[in-house]
Amino acid sequence: MASDFTGKQTYQQDFDPTDYLETYYGAGKGVFIKDGFMEFALRKLHEAFTTGGVKGDTLIDIGPGPAIYQELSACEAFKEIIAADFTDRNRQYLVKWLKNEPGMFDWTPAVKFVCELEGRSDNIVGKQEKLRKTLKRIVKCDVTKSNPLEPLLLPQVDCVTTLGCLECACKDQDTYRKVLRNLSSLLKVGGCLIVTDILGSTSFLSGTKRFSLLNLDEAFIRKAITDTGFAMVDLEVLQRDFDKEMFDVCDHTSSIFYVARKVKEVK
Ligand SMILES: C[S@@+](CC[C@H](N)C(=O)[O-])C[C@H]1O[C@@H](n2cnc3c(N)ncnc32)[C@H](O)[C@@H]1O
Repeated sequence: MASDFTGKQTYQQDFDPTDYLETYYGAGKGVFIKDGFMEFALRKLHEAFTTGGVKGDTLIDIGPGPAIYQELSACEAFKEIIAADFTDRNRQYLVKWLKNEPGMFDWTPAVKFVCELEGRSDNIVGKQEKLRKTLKRIVKCDVTKSNPLEPLLLPQVDCVTTLGCLECACKDQDTYRKVLRNLSSLLKVGGCLIVTDILGSTSFLSGTKRFSLLNLDEAFIRKAITDTGFAMVDLEVLQRDFDKEMFDVCDHTSSIFYVARKVKEVK
């Protein structure tokens, strides 16, 4: 039976970067602003790249879509960030942000929040410049491929991050486990995989289009991580209050953040 899970080609055809950013991160009204997801992700990423000690030469950010806020702390801990997304429009959007073209989404609230966490609330302009210097490449990616960056073959890196992507890209639990193995192939042994996902969800709305989500839970993720050659280093779940209007847009019941260290190569 054919699956009705919206796959990567639906993202390529129907995922509009501007609609998405406004719906989820729009000032004051974005779903991820109102339910605390963005601040949760920023606080945990800040922790991972400071007290958590995650640092190195190269970090690959998988499935950023048109968003950059999830790289704001990483750019202090890594010499180079590579952003890797499936769709042409998302990658084009990121290239425009890199060139500081007019009319791009305004990330000032996120930048301000991270600067405050870093104790440098005067650094709002400098922080965006730092990220623009550190984000050196924007490349195509398909996490379902054994080399997600194919045809690019890179030396293994110190860190792979991904936020709000795996539940979109994986149609079932077997695919999630396979994707963890694919992402592991990009990492050195000892390197870290840092994931922020939403849990308990089945779909989300962006513009007028509804996209499928894999319904994930903490117990499954903990087991999948150890089964695929990682050790869990940190994990936190943020519960979400019920609000019908927000759940009609995206029906997750909580969010998860985890840091997992690669302990061995897996096939
Ligand atoms: C809901 S958006 C998340 C964007 C951003 N990370 C955020 O959370 O705000 C899901 C992203 O997953 C990407 N994606 C979907 N399938 C993918 C695949 N097979 N490989 C890589 N990225 C994929 C889409 O292009 C899109 O950018």
